[in-house]
Amino acid sequence: MKKAMKVSSAMLALTLGLAACSSGQNATDKAKDKNDTKTADQSGEVVKIVYARGQDSTKATEKIIEAFEKSHPNIKVEFREMPADTGKQHDAYVTMLNAQSSEIDVMDLDVVWPAEFAQAGYTLPLDRFIEQDGIDLSKYNQGALAAGNFNGKQWAMPKFIDAGMLFYRTDLVPQDKVPKTWDELLATAKELKGKGGTQFGYLMQAKQYEGLVCNAVEFIASYGGKIVDENNNVVVNSPETIKGLKKMVEIVKSNVVPSNITTFTEPESHTAFIEGQSPFIRNWPYQYALANDKEQSKIVGKVGVAPLPAGDKGSAATLGGWMTAINKYSKHPKEAWEFVKFMTGPEGQKISAIYGGLAPTLPELFKDQDILKANPFFAEEGFVNALNAAVPRPVVPNYPEVSEIIQINVSKAIAGQLTVEQAVANMEKEIKAALNK
Ligand code: GLC
Repeated sequence: MKKAMKVSSAMLALTLGLAACSSGQNATDKAKDKNDTKTADQSGEVVKIVYARGQDSTKATEKIIEAFEKSHPNIKVEFREMPADTGKQHDAYVTMLNAQSSEIDVMDLDVVWPAEFAQAGYTLPLDRFIEQDGIDLSKYNQGALAAGNFNGKQWAMPKFIDAGMLFYRTDLVPQDKVPKTWDELLATAKELKGKGGTQFGYLMQAKQYEGLVCNAVEFIASYGGKIVDENNNVVVNSPETIKGLKKMVEIVKSNVVPSNITTFTEPESHTAFIEGQSPFIRNWPYQYALANDKEQSKIVGKVGVAPLPAGDKGSAATLGGWMTAINKYSKHPKEAWEFVKFMTGPEGQKISAIYGGLAPTLPELFKDQDILKANPFFAEEGFVNALNAAVPRPVVPNYPEVSEIIQINVSKAIAGQLTVEQAVANMEKEIKAALNK
């Protein structure tokens, strides 16, 4: 096994060398690059790589690094914690990578970024590594894989899939009272607020940031609306979208959510939930592992999972998730790839699923008994259907611009500065302008 890895790393160095030749570098540059990119195998030294990702409230990252370092004694991974807010994290990477910084080697990318990062030249195409190591891409969830593909190249490997879900307290919500519609949710949340030590009825994410877009997409899609269609035509100005957003505004303004809900991102909402403050929360699958973590949670063993409540059209979950990519300016691309390969391969994804409650992008892992023991709901039809039917956000290289338009207009509708109709008309005009640039 070790030997095979050595052979493949030599071949990789050769391929990288050839690529450098074809990009027109002179001999001195090539020699310099060779020194800079000296690998752990070649020097026998320990190479340190820096891995950046957002704040991890679970133990998954720690455990992955531990397992990787054990099986790769020549590579040390330093974890660089980035902001939990995906938009802030995005901006921190952009600042770093615009300055061509090599301070991080591997970074997690939200599913909505790979096209933008590839176009900006921030990430290394992974095709050569994938081919070299014979990674079978057909084993991955194809939707998740596609999020990292741009202009025919694979720029990021899928690490886990996210889809919005409803988590509820099994000790407070009888099985036949798990709400099926948004109206039922509102009614039950009102009824339960204040019971069993709770202060609120429902938690969600309503701050002006990326998570607000995810929550909005779920309301919109549950009433049959869309922001853009499959061909990226802007179709946001529809009665369905208006209905969905009106329901969202109604819930955000109701007294079942905390009065400062417009400051809530994932950490604020999950903290309140694991503190036992609410019978319901909308969150991503990691919520389950966190709620069952004895060191942090007051509601261990009391959490159920259900699809999000339905609107006229049905229940809808936003497609989220994270991928892993290599900084184009990394001085250690080979070691960086080893870590990417491990983390997004079966072993790494298993750790993510068990300790982080994250849904694998390798469908075969949904049959893994240890994973199912940690996350029994992974076996439920409702969960699998929600993952498969999750609604993507617009897939465009200037996604951050489109996201900001949605965030601002939805926030204004929530604040009562715009009617939902006006917010939707603004979105139509502004998103069309952004996409026609
Ligand atoms: C989760 C999702 C990600 C989304 C973010 C919003 O991390 O995986 O896709 O953008 O939440 O806060």
